[in-house]
Amino acid sequence: MIREALEIVRAIRARDPAQPTFAEVVLCYAGLHAVLWHRLSHRLWRMGLRAPARCVSHLSRFLTGIEIHPGARIGRRLFIDHGMGVVIGETAEIGDDVLIYHGVTLGGLTTKPGKRHPTLEDGAIIGAGAQVLGPILIGRNARVGANAVCVDPVPEGVTVVGIPARPPGKTKGSQTAGYGIVPDAPDPVAEQIAALRVEIAVLRERNSLGA
Ligand SMILES: CC(C)(COP(=O)(O)OP(=O)(O)OC[C@H]1O[C@@H](n2cnc3c(N)ncnc32)[C@H](O)[C@@H]1OP(=O)(O)O)[C@@H](O)C(=O)NCCC(=O)NCCS
Repeated sequence: MIREALEIVRAIRARDPAQPTFAEVVLCYAGLHAVLWHRLSHRLWRMGLRAPARCVSHLSRFLTGIEIHPGARIGRRLFIDHGMGVVIGETAEIGDDVLIYHGVTLGGLTTKPGKRHPTLEDGAIIGAGAQVLGPILIGRNARVGANAVCVDPVPEGVTVVGIPARPPGKTKGSQTAGYGIVPDAPDPVAEQIAALRVEIAVLRERNSLGA
């Protein structure tokens, strides 16, 4: 555990442009603490001690603001920067040297049990606030931009941005406008009103035929 902690501290110091000291990272980096708590909860989970495992991950969430399900599989030197609001689901798998910013969800899209969370390969970077959903593969060194919603696999080395996440330049016309509204997206209220208008026209027609 200590060896691993030192390895993560070294990785954080190498990657963080704020150039934190050793003591800063050890004492004040919630991402480091969350990964170490997860090692304990994951071990308990694998021993079949589900409730204690959940208690440890819950305590870690309380202390760090980072929620990692005890079942998630995490590789070496994961750097969760800032951390607050990160959610990592039960069947998520994370390779080595992955960087995740605050507000990221590695979530599911189904309530069915089984593999339902993403797999991040070595060196992937997930920008702040990005939602990566479903059992998709984010390839080695791929990057998901801040606030993207990613529901499709991302090949190795590729960058995606926006909603839905696409490589930059391919998002034109599908990027969100203000308030997260997508231009030309279906408007359920307008559709209902249009259906009601048709129904009223049909009733009027029937009424006039009967009169
Ligand atoms: C996605 C990302 C990795 C791309 O970085 P990059 O390769 O240097 O790309 P660029 O900055 O040259 O941008 C390329 C295009 O994508 C657009 N873009 C970049 N990031 C974007 C994002 N998150 N959402 C939407 N569009 C984005 C740029 O406007 C640019 O568009 P254009 O070609 O029409 O001008 C980066 O912008 C990003 O989001 N990193 C996450 C950083 C983060 O979360 N930081 C938190 C620190 S606390």
